[in-house]
This record gives sequence, C-alpha cells and structure tokens, in this order.
Amino acid sequence: MSILVTGGAGYIGSHVCVELLAAGEDIVLLDNFSNAERTVADRISELSGRTFPVCDVDLLDREGLGRVFAGHDIESVIHLAGRKAVGESVSLPVLYYHNNITGTLHLCQAMAEAGCHSMVFSSSATVYGANPIVPFREDFALSATSPYGMTKVVIERILTDLAAAEPDWRFCLLRYFNPIGAHPSGLLGERPDGVPNNLLPYIAQVAAGQRTHLTVFGDDYPTRDGTGVRDYLHVVDLALGHLKALAYVRAHAGAEAVNLGTGTGYSVLEIVAAFERASGLKIPYIVAPRRAGDIAVMSADPAKAERLLGWKALRGLDDMCADAWRFASRAAEELN
Ligand code: UD1
Repeated sequence: MSILVTGGAGYIGSHVCVELLAAGEDIVLLDNFSNAERTVADRISELSGRTFPVCDVDLLDREGLGRVFAGHDIESVIHLAGRKAVGESVSLPVLYYHNNITGTLHLCQAMAEAGCHSMVFSSSATVYGANPIVPFREDFALSATSPYGMTKVVIERILTDLAAAEPDWRFCLLRYFNPIGAHPSGLLGERPDGVPNNLLPYIAQVAAGQRTHLTVFGDDYPTRDGTGVRDYLHVVDLALGHLKALAYVRAHAGAEAVNLGTGTGYSVLEIVAAFERASGLKIPYIVAPRRAGDIAVMSADPAKAERLLGWKALRGLDDMCADAWRFASRAAEELN
C-alpha cells in the first residue's frame, strides 16, 4: 500500500517524499506541476534510490483524481497541494478559494470512494491570524489576514467537521511555522518563480548576485532589534514531522492540529547575519516601511508536537542557512 503525496514535487512535498522513501514507505507522487519542476521527481528518485509513480493530476480534475485512487492502493494521504502566495491570494481570492478548498473537497470525496480515511494536512501558522500573544498554542482561536490564510482555516474546519461526523476519518493538521533550508545534498530546495516573497529565498538570491540587496520590512517593531521575529525551522525537520504525523493518524481517529516549529524566534537581521556566516558573503540591505499584514513576532509552542507525535526540531539555524545556500548557489550556477 502507498502514501499519496499531493504537491509532492513542491518545496516541502519533495522533502516529505525523500523521507518517506528513506523510511521504507511506498509513495505515489501527485502534482499538477504548476509551481514545481518535473525534474524534482527524478531528483527524489536519485536521492532515495527508489522509483515511484508520478501522477500529473490537478485536484480540480475530480475524474482524474478518481483514476489515481482506482489505479493505486492508497493507504493514507499527505496533502500539501495548494496555492500559497499571500499577496496573490489578495488579488485573486476566487482562484485561491476554488483551488485550495474545492481541491481538498475533491480529495476527500475520492478518498471516501476508495475507503481511504487518513490524511496529514499541510496547514500553516497563518491560521493564528494577527494574534499578539506568543508563543502560539493549538487551542488559540483561529482567524486569517488573507484569502490564502482563510483557505487554511476553512480546510481545517472541513476536516475537523468530517472527523466529527464520521468516526472512520483521521486527520493531523500540521501548522507549519517558517520552513527554510534545503536538502543537505543541494539537490532539493525552494526555487520561487519571479521575485521571492519570503525572506530566505530573497536573501539567497542576493547572495547569488541575482539581486542587489534585501529590503528589510520595518525596523520599528517591539523586538530585540526592531525587525520581525519568526520561528524558522529546517525543511528536513518539517518533513520528518510528517512521518510522525502519519504514524499518529494510523493509530488514532479524530482530527488533531499540531504546531511544527522550534519554539525559538529569530529576527530578520539575525537571519541576515546567520546567512552571512554560512555563505561567507555580505548581504547588503536597506530598511523600508513595514509590509502590510506582517506582525512583530510569530513563534510556536512546540510542546504538543513532542507530546503527541514525539517530534522535535533538531537542526539549528546555521544548518538551515548552510543548506539553503548550498542549494541556491547550485541553482544560480545552473542558470548561468
Ligand atoms: C509568509 C506569509 C505566511 C505564509 C508563510 C510561508 C505573509 C504576510 N505571510 O510568512 O502567511 O504562511 O510566508 O509561506 O506574507 N521580510 C523582509 N524582507 C523580505 C521578505 C521578508 O524583511 O524581502 C521579513 C518579513 O517582514 C518577516 C520575515 O522577514 O518579518 C519573514 O517573512 P516571510 O519569509 O515572508 O514569512 P512570513 O511573513 O512569516
């Protein structure tokens, strides 16, 4: 039996696939390749020494999805497919709601038809909205500051309602904090299209000479150095959290939300300094006003992940930056 990984060719999905294969699981990788390259599947094979089916299917294609379940013996699903750009979701809300929510409903329908009832869902710390109290705990009220964030809130609610209505279902809703870094091989990582929205990919492009400088969004927050503080975690730690969540849903019915973060926050300037250490390069930056919708501090209370899943992030900031740089410098060389 196999684990279906939706969004398996994406930044997080590809790392999840590698860890599943390393743990001896069989996988089916599903992706519509709208924001991922087809070569990612080959790289996953190369790293794991294993082959697996790749389904080029969009979750909005309900029939295509039915064929994936009919053609493979799927035991559980790790669901990461979805649109994820916050700014884009503000300009294109219908696209985001339709893609992320309808896609997930289709997935639940196809799973029910196939008698598959366990899912690990890729949620986000964005479901805590503009909550000013840190660290964030899973029992906090949920809200959203963007259509993207609202899709995560709504999907969490749908899955929780489904588990309450039908006792066969089992869900683990993983609320990711800020995943950064890359596979230590340098073969897998985050490669955004166009101008990166997120901090680490932007810094990496500055280091690689693709951009002249970083713009720091605000240095007047009530934090150590005035810049925003986030709970960054290594994408490999995050991927391993999915394996723990999978073990959990295999053994427990219901729906549980779990934070995946380290519990430690770093400011933008601390990240810049760590990246400079890792790369040996200077990252020039300018300070600009705050970015709309940003909050001062986001950090996880990671206690539930340790208690329920037996998961804890192990990789530190220097590893995160060194691995991110290894991938980004390779990617920049390939472009030249
Ligand atoms: C963002 C999204 C969040 C999403 C997450 C993962 C917003 C408002 N939030 O989180 O919903 O779940 O990505 O994809 O977009 N920064 C700069 N300069 C830059 C980029 C970022 O100073 O060029 C700062 C930000 O102000 C923030 C920190 O770096 O303080 C981290 O930003 P980012 O990597 O975009 O993550 P989040 O905003 O935390």
